[in-house]
Amino acid sequence: MRYALGEEHEQIRQAARQFAERELAPRAIEVDLSGEFPEDNVEKLRKYGYLGMNLPEEFGGGGMDMLSHTVAEEEIARCCAATAVIMSVHNILFGETVLNSARGTVREEVLRQVATGERLGAFALTEPEAGSDAGAITTTAVREGAEYVLNGRKTFISNAGVAHWYIVCATMDRSKGTKGITAFLVEKGQPGFSFGKPEDKMGIRGSKTADLILDGVRVREARRLGEEGEGFKIAMGALDHGRIGIAAQALGIAQAALDASVNYAKQRVQFGKPIATLQAIQWMIAEMAVDIEAARLLVYRAAELAGQPGRHSEFFAMAKLFASTTAMKHTVKAVQVHGGYGYMREYKVERLMRDAKITEIYEGTSEIMKLIIAQSLLR
Ligand code: CAA
Repeated sequence: MRYALGEEHEQIRQAARQFAERELAPRAIEVDLSGEFPEDNVEKLRKYGYLGMNLPEEFGGGGMDMLSHTVAEEEIARCCAATAVIMSVHNILFGETVLNSARGTVREEVLRQVATGERLGAFALTEPEAGSDAGAITTTAVREGAEYVLNGRKTFISNAGVAHWYIVCATMDRSKGTKGITAFLVEKGQPGFSFGKPEDKMGIRGSKTADLILDGVRVREARRLGEEGEGFKIAMGALDHGRIGIAAQALGIAQAALDASVNYAKQRVQFGKPIATLQAIQWMIAEMAVDIEAARLLVYRAAELAGQPGRHSEFFAMAKLFASTTAMKHTVKAVQVHGGYGYMREYKVERLMRDAKITEIYEGTSEIMKLIIAQSLLR
């Protein structure tokens, strides 16, 4: 059973699959082992129009909808999950948020740079003491005339150091809680703006993750996103759609695990016949396939809802929760299908297992997804 994509979306899938298999898959193991940022992959994403594919054509983007982005993200993650998150953060958390909340010439200038992929974007909400409790951030923004002065530290920021533009959330009044938070655009190279050392991660090792250090960074009023006090809602809106991107990434990782398991099971001979003939293996493969198709239905439905009016946070949370759980559960199973070989670096399933874990954590943990779903039902 396959989700029936329309002709246009099916073409995007085919193109993304060919692109990812040809350009990204051959280097995925090397990117993982070295942990180096895959600048060449980013250049290819740029060249083939994947950076900014969801941003309007008037700014140089691809003008495509969220379902198009989702199928492309899934196919890219199927071959290289690290490259997929670079794209998702750039296109959704950063690009879409600037599109919705920046103003005037700043909006136009930044969108032109990110819609064409000329410059990368990143999104900074998390702090050492404010992860799931995002409203507890302590980075401050103090207004001084037509500028704001930012001080604080952001942590676990994807694309840190390699991006040029950063959305930074800061509190202007902690006593107001989430309503005291404002979002700003900060540019690499601004005085007082620096980066911590890149994190040495379990998975998605090619994607860069580091702290942002803000020491008296001055931001012009024109670079504020939305109004003062709207930063939390802007960030939550960004994460709503960002979670569809991570769900698609998880789906791609899970599909890669299934594909590898099917291939391996047909080739690996034990007890005089391919292990694919053994019921123990068949059941594992069947269970993987069912969950992956179910995840795909949820993720594509979430992508369709993203283009419809109203708030659909709980559906985005359901898609991310189910797809990431599926990815984790079935990449472990894929290692089991591969036996001892699955435990070795040379076989990609151990990388898939390590890559899958982060999808249950970033852009909102599975526990926070459950909280969002429950709150919407119990309101
Ligand atoms: N869209 C619009 N508004 C929203 C919203 C959404 N999705 N979610 C909440 N809001 C609004 C609420 O309506 C409320 O507004 P009112 O007071 O006017 O009604 C306001 O925001 C505060 O909402 P809550 O009271 O629900 O806020 P909370 O403090 O209880 O937090 C939460 C809710 C869901 C737990 C939220 O803090 C959350 O999502 N936490 C997880 C954070 C997260 O995902 N972090 C990942 C960061 S990115 C990353 O991982 C790294 C990277 O680089 C990729």
